Amino acid sequence: MDGTSFYDDNDVFNTYMHSRQRTESPNDTIEKPVIMELIGAIQGRRILDLGCGDGVFGRESLANGCASYLGVEGSQNMVAVAQQTLAGTKGEVVLNTLENWDYPTAAFDLVVSRLVLHYIDNIDLLFANIHRTLLSGGQFVFSAEHPVITSTDKGWQKGTQRQDWVVDNYFDTSERVTNWMGGTVRKYHRTLEGYFKSVQQAGFVIERLREGHPQRENFLTDETYLRRKRIPLFLIMSLRKQ
Ligand SMILES: C[S@@+](CC[C@H](N)C(=O)[O-])C[C@H]1O[C@@H](n2cnc3c(N)ncnc32)[C@H](O)[C@@H]1O
Repeated sequence: MDGTSFYDDNDVFNTYMHSRQRTESPNDTIEKPVIMELIGAIQGRRILDLGCGDGVFGRESLANGCASYLGVEGSQNMVAVAQQTLAGTKGEVVLNTLENWDYPTAAFDLVVSRLVLHYIDNIDLLFANIHRTLLSGGQFVFSAEHPVITSTDKGWQKGTQRQDWVVDNYFDTSERVTNWMGGTVRKYHRTLEGYFKSVQQAGFVIERLREGHPQRENFLTDETYLRRKRIPLFLIMSLRKQ
C-alpha cells in the first residue's frame, strides 16, 4: 500500500492512532519538541501542513495565534479526524495527496511536514512545489524517518522494541516495503546526503539539521530515555526560502 491507502485500512488506522496517543510515544518525546523548537514563534504565520494527520498541530498552532492553518492530507480516515479536531476553529483541511495538490504560489510563511516524506517517491518535485508556495523568507520544517531506520528493518521482530538496529543497503536508495502497524506499506529510503542535496537543489538554505537527540526532561522514565538514546528515529530539518 502507498502512504495514504495504508492509513485508510481501518485496522492499521486504529493501531496507529492507539500507538500515536500512548504515553512517551517517540513523536511526543523526541520529534515534537525538536519541531516546535525549530519553528519558534508561531504568532501571525500562515501555515501549510503537508500530511497533517489528525490536525492536532493545527489546533495547537491556532490556539497559539497563527494567522491561518491549512492541512493537506491524503487519507480519508485522517481527514475525518482532522475535521473533528479543527471544528470550531478557522483551520481547514483538504483531502488530497502531496503529489496531486495544486500548490498556490507565494501563499505561506511556514510549511510543515511531519513524518510524511518517506512515503513520497519524487521529493525533488515536492520540494520545488514547497519552495514555490512559500513566501520569500518563509520557512520549511520537516521530519522524516531517519535514514538509519528506512535503510532496512531486517533483524527487527515486529511487535517488539527495536534492539541492536541493523543498517544495510544504505546507499541503495529505492523503495522499501515493510510491515508496520499490522499492515504493509511502501516507503522510500534516502541517505542523509540525499536529503541534503534535494533541499539544496530546490533552492533552500539549510538552517538546522537535527537527529532527534533525546532530552531527559521529555521522558517520564530513565528506562525509555536510555532506550531512545540507542537508535536515531528521526531526521529533522529547518530550511529557509530567501
Ligand atoms: C505518520 S503519519 C503523520 C501525521 C502527522 N503529520 C503527525 O505527525 O502526526 C503520516 C501521514 O501522512 C499521510 N500521507 C502519506 N503519504 C501521503 C501523500 N502522498 N499525500 C498526502 N498525505 C500522505 C498519511 O495519510 C498520514 O496521515
